[in-house]
Amino acid sequence: MRIDIISVLPELMVSPFQTSILKRAIDKGIVEVHFHQLRDWSVNKHRQIDDEPYGGGAGMVMMIEPIDKCISELKSQRDYDEIIYLTPDGETLNQKIANTLSIKNNLIFLCGHYKGIDQRVRDLHITKEISIGDFVLTGGELAACVLADSIIRLVPGVLNDEQSALTDSFQDDLLSPPIYTRPESYKGLDVPKILLSGNFAKIEEWRHEQAIKITTEKRPDLLE
Ligand code: ADE
Repeated sequence: MRIDIISVLPELMVSPFQTSILKRAIDKGIVEVHFHQLRDWSVNKHRQIDDEPYGGGAGMVMMIEPIDKCISELKSQRDYDEIIYLTPDGETLNQKIANTLSIKNNLIFLCGHYKGIDQRVRDLHITKEISIGDFVLTGGELAACVLADSIIRLVPGVLNDEQSALTDSFQDDLLSPPIYTRPESYKGLDVPKILLSGNFAKIEEWRHEQAIKITTEKRPDLLE
């Protein structure tokens, strides 16, 4: 998988991809992540990429030309499965979207800033708009990292068996059951006996019951 990320602040996204599981996925060659400084595509000697909105109003708007040039250059090099704009008014990210995107080959993420991007970029290039939740960030960069993390960990070969994504919360529309490790008892708090029984069929049954109970309590909407 290849992800191209277009941003005015690529430096904001360095460490997530240089650490832990994402770093290993990149080092193993399973995933490539390329950053593109949008200002490099500015047609203006001040490297300007934003301007005032037509019709007036507060805030600056990211201009079409630098973004169109950058995306068009990338598109001339390979076919992209999705060109995704990170924006608070996009579809809210969930596990199903992450699963769908994890089997794609080439993705572009466009990070917005200021008031947003010229509508014509959306009309011309954007195939998917994703929000990471109902709140507004200073820009799309952290959202792009969240989206990339949720996708990359699902790409085959990225997680080992121990970290398997199959038992994640949400993978089957249920939250995960409680988990415990040593010691068996701590300040009078005991690990549920069933988990020490060695009866794996019964343990699986218990975990499933717990998952349903927890989902009913915390996220009944997932069961609908
Ligand atoms: N940019 C600003 N806020 C955002 C959000 N919640 N999700 C995605 N991109 C954003």
